[in-house]
Amino acid sequence: MTRKIPIAKPNFGKEEETAVKEVLESGILASGPKTKSFEKEFAEYIGAEHAVAVTNGTIALDVALKALKICPGDEVITSAFSFVASGNCILFQNAKPVFADIDPKTFNIDPSDVAEKITSKTKALIPIHMFGQPAEMDALKEIAEDKEIALVEDAAQAHGAEYKGQKAGSIGDIACFSFYATKNMTSGEGGMITTNDRKLADKARLLINHGQSRKYHHDTLGYNYRMTELCAAIGSVQLKKLDGFNEKRIENAKLLSSGIRKFQGLTPPYVMNDVKHVFHQYVVRVEEDYRLERDVLADRLAERGVGVAVHYPIPIYRQQLYLELGYGETTCPNTEETCRRVLSLPVHPLVDIKDIEYILDVLEDVS
Ligand SMILES: Cc1ncc(COP(=O)(O)O)c(C=O)c1O
Repeated sequence: MTRKIPIAKPNFGKEEETAVKEVLESGILASGPKTKSFEKEFAEYIGAEHAVAVTNGTIALDVALKALKICPGDEVITSAFSFVASGNCILFQNAKPVFADIDPKTFNIDPSDVAEKITSKTKALIPIHMFGQPAEMDALKEIAEDKEIALVEDAAQAHGAEYKGQKAGSIGDIACFSFYATKNMTSGEGGMITTNDRKLADKARLLINHGQSRKYHHDTLGYNYRMTELCAAIGSVQLKKLDGFNEKRIENAKLLSSGIRKFQGLTPPYVMNDVKHVFHQYVVRVEEDYRLERDVLADRLAERGVGVAVHYPIPIYRQQLYLELGYGETTCPNTEETCRRVLSLPVHPLVDIKDIEYILDVLEDVS
């Protein structure tokens, strides 16, 4: 019998409903006490001194770069194997995104290519903890410190992930999270900035609230990028459930990998030593010697009710916007090859053992 297994599904219970109801009854809907306590809880969880809640992960990146004073003409290095926000947050500053290639095994930015792409104009480096696996932070930190550039962690996909015992989001100068509906924890839409640098946190707070230092005293140009109380209330509840959600993702990933290893030409995700990979996505490589093309395999799985997705089919520099900005000559060979090979399978906490057996049975049938 065909099952329907979505690639992602938010996981809410009575606790979120109660929290939302409480907010509605309180009458305080814009940023208020729930947002403050969510910030405090999140900072504690991550092991960062400060957390600033914002409207979404894209804005978290935008505000982080503004707080760091990234200016027009500055260069910022990131990976093109990502969601487009990773490049666009640099464009928002009228700065220049410079794309370094990835390690095709981990999908994370390759520190040796980063080192090659640094120029006198480079002001920041944004590693993305792709699919929930931390980037090689020791090597990246060393480069950033040596070249005196800012290290911004894009932890949009890595809530609860760890690198050598340290939580993603507590390692660089500043870090950005997303609470979009498909993420390991969600608030509907939402984002968080974490940092140990008081000045950066204060600057971020000004930027997201019209540059206001005291009621109706506006010191700098700012925006309204504040999180709502409804989002914060949901976020607080989800944060309490995050470790449990992540354990289930890790368990599902283990079961999937032990089955998938048997299929010639399908490579399960590689997990580095010394990291906690929290499997925001479970991404296999469909190698050249697999019996079907990646897109044909995706269609076969989808026909049988297995939710699949390609994260990501196009390097950011090949998007129309970037071609028009003059990125036509940019090439990152590992990124391009990876875009042709990857396929994401359902791994979220609502996927159960029966779903996994079904996914593996379907793979057996088509492989
Ligand atoms: C790596 C990465 N960075 C940034 C973002 C942007 O987050 P949001 O969708 O909350 O704006 C996302 C979201 O999908 C992401 O995956």
